[in-house]
Parts: sequence; structure tokens; C-alpha cells
Amino acid sequence: MTYLYLKAFHIIFVVSWFAGLFYLPRLFVNHAMAEDEASQARLALMERKLFRFMTPLAVLALGFGSWLWLGYGVSGGWLHAKLTLVAVLIAYHLYCGKLLRDFAAGRNVRSHRWYRVFNEIPVLILFAVVILVVVKPF
Ligand code: HEM
Repeated sequence: MTYLYLKAFHIIFVVSWFAGLFYLPRLFVNHAMAEDEASQARLALMERKLFRFMTPLAVLALGFGSWLWLGYGVSGGWLHAKLTLVAVLIAYHLYCGKLLRDFAAGRNVRSHRWYRVFNEIPVLILFAVVILVVVKPF
């Protein structure tokens, strides 16, 4: 029973974290296209607030995941593959923090097209991870 509650909380925080992982790079797309200073300042504020909200959600998602893994001895090739993708996702999250600091300092050098492609990375990771945990193909 406890295991299932932990899994439910794991999923709740994963979903919430992903809302931010999808929206923040979308704000970067708008920011890279914004020309006036007022829009740029507003977007920088939205990005900072969103990132500050996303980070504890990520910690909770990862915390509940680790509890499921280590507390109940879950194992398998699928889990190793998943953890590798989770490491990429954590790097992506931290890189978003660097990008928003660059934007805030007026140091962005990338085009809105670059951010559109960048925006797709968490989508691909979500597909792969959900298939790995549900299908457990290996
Ligand atoms: C430190 C990182 C993580 C660890 C150690 C971890 C570990 C686990 C474990 C042990 C389970 C239970 C699997 C089972 O009962 O069969 C689970 C379930 C799940 N995890 Fe994670 N997880 C982590 C991060 C993530 C992330 C980032 C995502 C999404 C991209 C995710 C998505 C899911 C989903 C959807 C389930 C439910 C699968 C089911 O229906 O049984 N996890 N996780």
C-alpha cells in the first residue's frame, strides 16, 4: 500500500515538474523574439519565478523516485536506462537555469529556432522514460 502511495506521489511531482520543463523553454522562445525592453524584463521575471517553483518539484519527484528504488530494491535494465535519461533531464534543468541567467544579463546569443528545438528534448525524454517504466522492455 505504502509503495503505491509513494508511486502516486512520484507521478504527481514528475507531472508537475514537466509542466515547467515544457513551459520554461517556451518562454525562452518568446524571449528570443522579444524586441522591446519591457517584454524582455517581464519574460525574465516569469522565467525566474517559474524556475524557482520547478526546482523543489524536481527534488520531490527525484526524492520519491529514489525512495521507491532504494527503499524497495527495485532493479532491472529498464531502471538503469531510465536513470541515465533522468541524469540528462537533471542536466537539462540545470542548463535552463544557466540560460535564464544569460537572458536576465542580456547575454542570450541563440535564436528562437534554437529554443524551439531545445524545447523538444524533454518531450523525447518523457516518451522514452514512460515506455521504459511501463513496458519494462529489458
Ligand atoms: C531519481 C530519479 C528516479 C528514480 C530513482 C525513479 C524510480 C522509480 C521507481 C523505482 C518506480 C517504480 C516502478 C515500478 O513499480 O514498476 C518509478 C515509477 C515511475 N516513474 Fe520514476 N524514478 C525517477 C525519476 C522519474 C522521472 C524523471 C520520470 C519521468 C520522466 C519518472 C516516471 C515514472 C513513472 C511514470 C512511473 C510509474 C510507472 C508505473 O506505472 O509503474 N520517474 N520510478
